[in-house]
Amino acid sequence: MQSAETYNDTVVRQFALMTVVWGIVGMLVGVVIASQLLFPALNFDIAWLSYGRLRPLHTNAVIFAFGGSALFSTSYYIVQRTCHTRLFAGPLATFTFWGWQAIILAAAITLPLGITSGKEYAELEWPIDIAIAVVWVAYAIVFLGTLVKRKTKHIYVANWFFAAFIITVAVLHIVNSAEVPVTLWKSYSAYAGTVDAMVEWWYGHNAVGFFLTAGFLGIMYYFVPKQAGRPVYSYRLSVVHFWALISVYMWAGPHHLIYTTLPDWAQSLGMVFSLILIAPSWGGMINGIMTLSGAWHKLRTDPILKFLIVSLSFYGMSTFEGPMMAIKTVNSLSHYTDWTIGHVHSGALGWVAMVSIGALYALIPRLYGRTEMYSVKLIDVHFWTMTIGVVLYVCAMWISGVTQGLMWRATNPDGTLTYTFVEALKATYPFYAVRLAGGVLVLGGMFLMAYNVFKTVTGPKAIIADQPVPQPAHG
Ligand code: HEM
Ligand code: HEM
Repeated sequence: MQSAETYNDTVVRQFALMTVVWGIVGMLVGVVIASQLLFPALNFDIAWLSYGRLRPLHTNAVIFAFGGSALFSTSYYIVQRTCHTRLFAGPLATFTFWGWQAIILAAAITLPLGITSGKEYAELEWPIDIAIAVVWVAYAIVFLGTLVKRKTKHIYVANWFFAAFIITVAVLHIVNSAEVPVTLWKSYSAYAGTVDAMVEWWYGHNAVGFFLTAGFLGIMYYFVPKQAGRPVYSYRLSVVHFWALISVYMWAGPHHLIYTTLPDWAQSLGMVFSLILIAPSWGGMINGIMTLSGAWHKLRTDPILKFLIVSLSFYGMSTFEGPMMAIKTVNSLSHYTDWTIGHVHSGALGWVAMVSIGALYALIPRLYGRTEMYSVKLIDVHFWTMTIGVVLYVCAMWISGVTQGLMWRATNPDGTLTYTFVEALKATYPFYAVRLAGGVLVLGGMFLMAYNVFKTVTGPKAIIADQPVPQPAHG
């Protein structure tokens, strides 16, 4: 086992701290747009504060700035520990940090100015797209190069998930961003009509599958065993989980285009593959949760483990709900409604944000040579604030979404609509207030985290040994 100094942890620390910063920024913008849906006047008639511009700012900030920084940080940390070697091409790793932050800043400036390609989750204009491709290829070189120079015989399963996430996101981004520039800040997609929509949702869905899922499963496969002090429940299941997940996700994208001009057979293909996706998703969730076998009592005292296990429960819930929403008849009710928003946030807040936060609480003391976070009690308060916030958010959106779907489709015996659009909007109003309350709780929790992290980083140092991740008894 090597000492901590052998590893390149500077870049890990930088990304870890920026995860907290971008988490606060992204969720703050989330709270602002949630307030605007309740009080539209909050855009103050200023174009760059308008909902249509702030919404993509929110999605880009939480997914790519917050989620992305969490993934860079943990993957760089984990690959070094599990491969017993220092990061390959250190200066290139430093470049990925500054490059990624510059891209985030460019997004934060261009999106409020209304500069957008108009493709959801791929809104950034072509010069920034090129920068993303360059930084991402650098990331791939650093990560895969470290795997190649590893001193261990086998590649720990977390690294399989990270490698798949890095390679796939490169392919998705480059193919979906193919565009024809007309000016410095305006381009048109290389694809047209239905093909453009198909490429966009092949990208969009796999961004969920690889950016918001595979990478975070890598985090889960390292930090759950580590925090529980137990080996992964089944190494064999983790290998089956990996191959099944990456081969099925690719085909499910058309479930975003049900009842559109996409050929019917392609829609049905998307639906069937979405239903099959329950199996690998739940295989992974069960593998994570069962890792706690024999260590369940730790949940009583360890709030970090609570974050990790509750995140897995949300992962299970959203990966059951998603396939249900992919069934054509269910989608005819859920599509365009707040149900989708509820699904998104049970995955994004419940799974992605909670697993990241749990991992960061485990990681930060180690990175700064502390035995634990400044206040374990505050982690517990954060856990409950966030859990209550997410449950309020998601339940409010479920009720509001189903209400919208049912009111929009209700007809009188003579064929006229039972409700006007405004009546449906009025019915959803109270739930927007509940969602806002949930969002404020979640954001409040992030401020507690920032305080706890600040006190940990600036507090006194302790000497701790770097423990290896528990390994399975058999390979
Ligand atoms: C304080 C926490 C958060 C609040 C208050 C919040 C609020 C919102 C609001 C109001 C919307 C727009 C909904 C609509 O158009 O009807 C939205 C969309 C979205 N949010 Fe959040 N959000 C939060 C955290 C997050 C996080 C952590 C993620 C991801 C990691 C995330 C991912 C998304 C995505 C992907 C969408 C677009 C959904 C779609 O187009 O269907 N959010 N959020
Ligand atoms: C088995 C896994 C999953 C399946 C089959 C699935 C399926 C679906 C379906 C059918 C929709 C609605 C499409 C529509 O009507 O427009 C949807 C939307 C969405 N899901 Fe999932 N989902 C899964 C897991 C997840 C997870 C774990 C996350 C987040 C971490 C997530 C994030 C999203 C987002 C962001 C959208 C909104 C896309 C948009 O319209 O902007 N999904 N998903």
